Amino acid sequence: MPVVEVSLGARSYPIHIAAGALDQAGALIAPRLDGGRVLVIADATVAKLHGQRLLAALTTAGLDAVIETFPAGEPSKTLATADALWQACARHRIDRSGAVIGLGGGVSGDLTGFVASCWMRGIAFVQVPTSLLAMVDSSVGGKTGVNSAAGKNLVGAFCQPRIVVIDPTVVATMDDREYRSGFAEVVKYGVIRSAEFLAWQEANAAALAARDPVAVAHAVAESCRIKAWYVAEDEFEQGVRAELNYGHTFGHALERETKYRVYLHGEAVAIGMGMAANLSHRLGLLDDPGLPDRLAGLLRRLGLPQRHQSADPAAEAARLAAHCALDKKVRHGATRFILPRRAGQVELVSSPPADQVIAAFGSGIAS
Ligand code: GLY
Repeated sequence: MPVVEVSLGARSYPIHIAAGALDQAGALIAPRLDGGRVLVIADATVAKLHGQRLLAALTTAGLDAVIETFPAGEPSKTLATADALWQACARHRIDRSGAVIGLGGGVSGDLTGFVASCWMRGIAFVQVPTSLLAMVDSSVGGKTGVNSAAGKNLVGAFCQPRIVVIDPTVVATMDDREYRSGFAEVVKYGVIRSAEFLAWQEANAAALAARDPVAVAHAVAESCRIKAWYVAEDEFEQGVRAELNYGHTFGHALERETKYRVYLHGEAVAIGMGMAANLSHRLGLLDDPGLPDRLAGLLRRLGLPQRHQSADPAAEAARLAAHCALDKKVRHGATRFILPRRAGQVELVSSPPADQVIAAFGSGIAS
């Protein structure tokens, strides 16, 4: 079973990745907890698919485990749902020796981690991701939170899990569009940190798109290795961890402009990665002129979009650029972009010329 370590001193934790890991979850998780009752939190859909299997694995390992559900979907990622789950913690008498386990995709993991970070001022937390996006990104690194009227993901806490258990075979139950959108973050890791991983993805794109279990397990393990390196280097995103936001400043603008109704997160990031490569070219930072075409080809083969549609591309590009000023990665008024130089290497650029940013948005819009 591949085990990736997130090295954070006394708070270090393993990421176990293996086919069938869901059935071994109890044996893996129990030694990392403090013996009290465990509350599994999942959305109603995931609970139906995988909830009983996880509960059985936990109980077999001697853990006293119960499950609570919330309605599936991003609208549930709110303080109101967190409050309902804190009430569930009280009802099930989850105390400081207990733990909360997030079973599911990004919404479930972010919400559950936030619930754990506040309940009794912080109790043990475990991630059991079931979506590709959660396996390769959101379950690792301790970013947790909820959406609020102030914006998406603006309220939250860093709360590292005690362990992450990933059974990559459960992606077999995922909706096709959701599955494909998870690859945006996988491609991102290749572009920002590993030319070798990017080339491997190009060679294995058909197997990945077809959910070949061996290829998926390798993609998940390699992604977790790269993410774990960033988290260990810069847990609180004061420096190099910002590289994980490649494609996200453009992508968040697309999501906001379309009111989160048109794109899944990964789809917006996919288009955003192309826009960021174009901005890099415009600023003379792109050492490998072939990279944008390679990126577009790989995204296409993985079933991800490369262009945003608009009847008026020029006006749309200006509108999208205006959203960047509101991005939560803005520091001291400067908008920060992660721009690729070549496969495996990126550079952080603060406040590039506004006309170049608008033109880069325009490069990714088709009428
Ligand atoms: N998803 C980006 C990060 O965890 O930093």
